[in-house]
Amino acid sequence: MAAGAIEVIKRRSSVRQFSKEPVSRSVIEQLLEAARWAPSAGNLQPWFFYVVTDPALRRCLMLAALKQEFIAAAPVVIVVCAEPARSARFYGERGRELYCLQDSAAATQNILLAATAKGLGSCWVGAFSEHQVRQCLGIPPELWPVALVALGHPAPGTEKRPGRRSLAEISRYL
Ligand SMILES: Cc1cc2nc3c(=O)[nH]c(=O)nc-3n(C[C@H](O)[C@H](O)[C@H](O)COP(=O)(O)O)c2cc1C
Repeated sequence: MAAGAIEVIKRRSSVRQFSKEPVSRSVIEQLLEAARWAPSAGNLQPWFFYVVTDPALRRCLMLAALKQEFIAAAPVVIVVCAEPARSARFYGERGRELYCLQDSAAATQNILLAATAKGLGSCWVGAFSEHQVRQCLGIPPELWPVALVALGHPAPGTEKRPGRRSLAEISRYL
């Protein structure tokens, strides 16, 4: 991997405070483009992305996500959905229960990294009621909302990144 990618990976950290500055449509499209090029099992691309900028809908998502207020304050929330049946058609239960989630997670991480590369702050949000998120956006049954990504221009002086477990603790060469 090029040094630039490693730098972006290390620079990314969760941002939960945003300025009011909107995010341009062209930048949002670049984030979705990054998502689109994520790997997926069998290249089935079992995902769908709702880009939510409407304040009332962002508020609805905030309430659905245990009232985490930064979600309503973020100018953009991308709701990442998996499409289990698309993966199941080729891969059965493993597609339905595992691959579509892994694929959607890879797409989500691509969004976070592209946002970082574009100077945006972002936070992956997993703590939400699927039912409520479905209701907010009218998500059809074949889609499974699996992640919210709150993003925007970071407010000055925002949070520090937490540390990590050591390589020695999490890896072994065999
Ligand atoms: C699957 C998943 C779910 C998460 N859910 C939330 C969440 O609901 N609210 C939140 O503030 N952060 C959430 N996070 C962000 C993590 O708290 C954060 O990534 C972690 O503390 C490491 O910090 P960093 O992202 O700054 O490196 C989530 C991250 C992941 C990967």
